[in-house]
Amino acid sequence: MPKVIIHRNGVVHTGEVKENSNLVVRAGIRQFPYPNLSYGCGMGKCGKCTSRVIAGGEALPPPNWKEEKVLGAKLAEGYRLTCQLWINHDIELEQDWTPATAARGAIPGLQRQTS
Ligand code: FES
Repeated sequence: MPKVIIHRNGVVHTGEVKENSNLVVRAGIRQFPYPNLSYGCGMGKCGKCTSRVIAGGEALPPPNWKEEKVLGAKLAEGYRLTCQLWINHDIELEQDWTPATAARGAIPGLQRQTS
């Protein structure tokens, strides 16, 4: 089973998930990484699930059009939309902001494309 490590607010959360798991779906049904994963719409629109991939990113598929629209240049820095990822391998992520700042678009350096 894939091992998932999430860094959030200075705390490291570690767990295992079944193959082909979506971490936002899991959090929505109160399974790990609940309550330690920030998320919102679950549909690749709000950006609240944005995470920086620390390790394991090489096994992820390329970003989809929703990630490109929401994250833009942040993709090149390793940021992904967690709700758009299905986990089949060990991965280490960091969420380094609060949902409130994400809702205000105040993620440092994050610029949303509006077109
Ligand atoms: S939860 Fe809204 S973009 Fe991922």
